[in-house]
Amino acid sequence: MADKTIRVGIIGAGIWGTNHALALTTHPRCTVAVICDRDQDRARRAGERFGCAWTTSLDEMAASDVEAVTIATPDHLHREPVVAMLRAGKHVMVEKPLATTVADGLAMVAAAEQAGCHLMVDFHARWHPLFMGAKGYVDRGELGAPVMAYARLSDTIYVPTEMLTWSGHSGPEWFLFPHTMDVVRWLFGRNPVEVTAKGYRGVLEARGIPCWDAIQAMVEFEGGAFCTFESSWIMPDSYSNVVDNRLSLYGERGGLEIRNEPSLWAFTDRFHTPFSSESVTRYGKVWGYQYEPIRYFADCVADGVTPEVNGADGLMVTAMIEATLKSLSEKRPVAIAEVLEAGHGRQ
Ligand SMILES: NC(=O)c1ccc[n+]([C@@H]2O[C@H](COP(=O)([O-])OP(=O)(O)OC[C@H]3O[C@@H](n4cnc5c(N)ncnc54)[C@H](O)[C@@H]3O)[C@@H](O)[C@H]2O)c1
Repeated sequence: MADKTIRVGIIGAGIWGTNHALALTTHPRCTVAVICDRDQDRARRAGERFGCAWTTSLDEMAASDVEAVTIATPDHLHREPVVAMLRAGKHVMVEKPLATTVADGLAMVAAAEQAGCHLMVDFHARWHPLFMGAKGYVDRGELGAPVMAYARLSDTIYVPTEMLTWSGHSGPEWFLFPHTMDVVRWLFGRNPVEVTAKGYRGVLEARGIPCWDAIQAMVEFEGGAFCTFESSWIMPDSYSNVVDNRLSLYGERGGLEIRNEPSLWAFTDRFHTPFSSESVTRYGKVWGYQYEPIRYFADCVADGVTPEVNGADGLMVTAMIEATLKSLSEKRPVAIAEVLEAGHGRQ
């Protein structure tokens, strides 16, 4: 029933939770009823800005009449609100990464199964027109079986040093790899098998942020295809864009390349190419691929349809990243099966 509307809650009213609110308050199929942040000031300001109730309590959100909740707490703090909302019978969409440990990811997937609720992960690259275009070539069989890929997603040092207050609890692997690892797994249509990684640290540590500066992870997928994932968090601020994003992908018969984001070139006091996921409001709503998966989730809940991106997808990405970190610390190839098995033991 295309005209059914739903009541939604949002947990986490920071940078990205505000994007959730912008997406959902301009979507005719839902009403944002409650926004929750453990920081009282943030929760109140968000409630006032978006004209809804606000709370600092997960219990109050759980007891509310919302059918669905979107969650944008920091990377390492997804499990508690996700599991609490699922146990309360709410459908959940959580930001990437699903979790920063396989054990947390498994617990969330199990909670969704037990509750019979949707658990979607916000992998918004799947809604980016260029990546959707790439998927079309794959679906039409124009590339043939997957062979090799290279995926780069890096941020300028502004992101870990100024934008995020919790960067030391995350890293380029948890913040950036989810986008590229999910999208390559989606394009390959294959699951990962093994990871070998190299990394560099020191620049961010010297600034009091204990995380990796840059990582390359080579992931082997089923059937022998492989991809090098590269992410850095120390690109100088002189780069024209906060983000550097490239992908090349080869199959047995064809290939494709995505060279950075479609760019607006601006030359004012400096030359810059603003990030295309900056919020653009026109014609009464916010626009962009970053808003579409959030609206899609609301549509799925309203229509009783299972979202295409689910907790299992999020778990695979978390396993790839945990295997990357294990490969870095133990200087050896690490099988995905090994980290999944260890995660089962630690849940
Ligand atoms: N899709 C994307 O491209 C994209 C971009 C940026 C951030 N993100 C993701 O969004 C998430 C949030 O990032 P952010 O930049 O908005 O962080 P942020 O620090 O700006 O906001 C996080 C908010 O969560 C609140 N919070 C933490 N624990 C809570 C809890 N248990 N209950 C209620 N509130 C709680 C904090 O007080 C804070 O206000 C991260 O997982 C991040 O990776 C996604």
